[in-house]
Amino acid sequence: MIIEPKVRGFICTTSHPEGCKENVRKQIAYIKNHPKCNGPKKVLVIGASTGYGLASRIASTYGCDAATIGVIFDKPASGSRTATAGWYNTAAFETFAAKDGYYAKTINGDAFSMETKQQTIDLIKQDLGQIDFVVYSLAAPKRTTADGTTYTSVLKCTGEDFVNTTVDLKTKEIVEVTVPKATEQEIHDTIKVMGGEDWKDWMTALNEAGVLAENTVTVAYSYIGPELTYPMYHKGTLGAAKAHLLKTAQEMTKEFSNINAYVSVNKALVTQASAAIPVVPLYIAVLYRIMEKKQIHENAIEQIERMYQEKLFVDTPVLDETGQIRMDDWELREDVQSEIKAFWDKLYAHEIPDFSYIDEYWVAFRQLFGFDLPNVDYSKDVDPNVAIPSIQD
Ligand code: NAI
Repeated sequence: MIIEPKVRGFICTTSHPEGCKENVRKQIAYIKNHPKCNGPKKVLVIGASTGYGLASRIASTYGCDAATIGVIFDKPASGSRTATAGWYNTAAFETFAAKDGYYAKTINGDAFSMETKQQTIDLIKQDLGQIDFVVYSLAAPKRTTADGTTYTSVLKCTGEDFVNTTVDLKTKEIVEVTVPKATEQEIHDTIKVMGGEDWKDWMTALNEAGVLAENTVTVAYSYIGPELTYPMYHKGTLGAAKAHLLKTAQEMTKEFSNINAYVSVNKALVTQASAAIPVVPLYIAVLYRIMEKKQIHENAIEQIERMYQEKLFVDTPVLDETGQIRMDDWELREDVQSEIKAFWDKLYAHEIPDFSYIDEYWVAFRQLFGFDLPNVDYSKDVDPNVAIPSIQD
């Protein structure tokens, strides 16, 4: 069938298998073109099918020659529906990895559940014995805990309601958005979903099962961003969850003699997760343009490769005064942020000189789903039914 993008709000309901394969191929080529890294050899990536998790899996495999197990939560094609992009990415990744002689298996299930954790432990015992690196890269709207309670994360402020000027990315009109204040319950629930509790559940379960090596490293990803987005991110519900993530990393490093847990604060990227946050997509659109102009723009694969080589898998990991790895160092550079501020000042004055950065945002967004890529022939018939080699029907 011919597959076209169907974008509804900030979700694309179709994905293109050949385009997703091309995205994975390009990321692998990037790592192959860089020096090898003195990193881990047996790696578990939780949230391995898109964004930072996929990049971590690719960098571990091709940069460190590691065997990887990925945990994903994706859907195969069914009837006239295509599979999710994460499904196609994983199918392509496993196929490339096998061809290049790397072990790569995947578990498709809810990472928050004990069942998925147990399945993962069984697979590690069966195939790898122990692992030495765990990447925790989930971005999820909901979490159901072992007692059956479902918590939902919200994107709200923790202070007062916040009003900001932004551009509607669909209509390109300048609009005011109000980000409402979260209730205590909403803050609590967002921390339950996006904070560190489940990360610690994973590390505890893996440790108790005896599948962690002597010096296991684990990393989870965070975001801070500039003051402009503080009300809806750093000082919002998600920021509260990220503060909990950092607290959990510190707790785990203290409590487990064989675990060093880190939080890496990464750069803002167009991903499915960031598209849903108020004002942030516009900020990212402007940021990409400015960082590209300065030749310091990075996508997930460039960020993770630089993190492995320069900050994490070095003699002493490079941390800031709060104990976090900072991969947002270029994003937060003074010269970058002052240009963004100048853009927003114009916006406040209701002056917009150029809308093309918004078009670029949508190209980057559609590319997440395998569309708009230069090397793919979209007029060709494709079979949406693509299998992930390690997953049985
Ligand atoms: P993403 O949406 O591309 O990836 C999230 C991954 O989690 C996907 O592989 C998805 O399948 C998986 N997932 C979601 N729910 C799951 C579940 N219940 N069970 C198993 N897998 C599940 O998101 P992105 O942007 O790569 O985010 C990953 C982490 O990086 C998040 O913690 C996010 O806060 C952080 N981050 C993201 C930034 C951005 O601008 N996108 C910036 C800095 C940090």
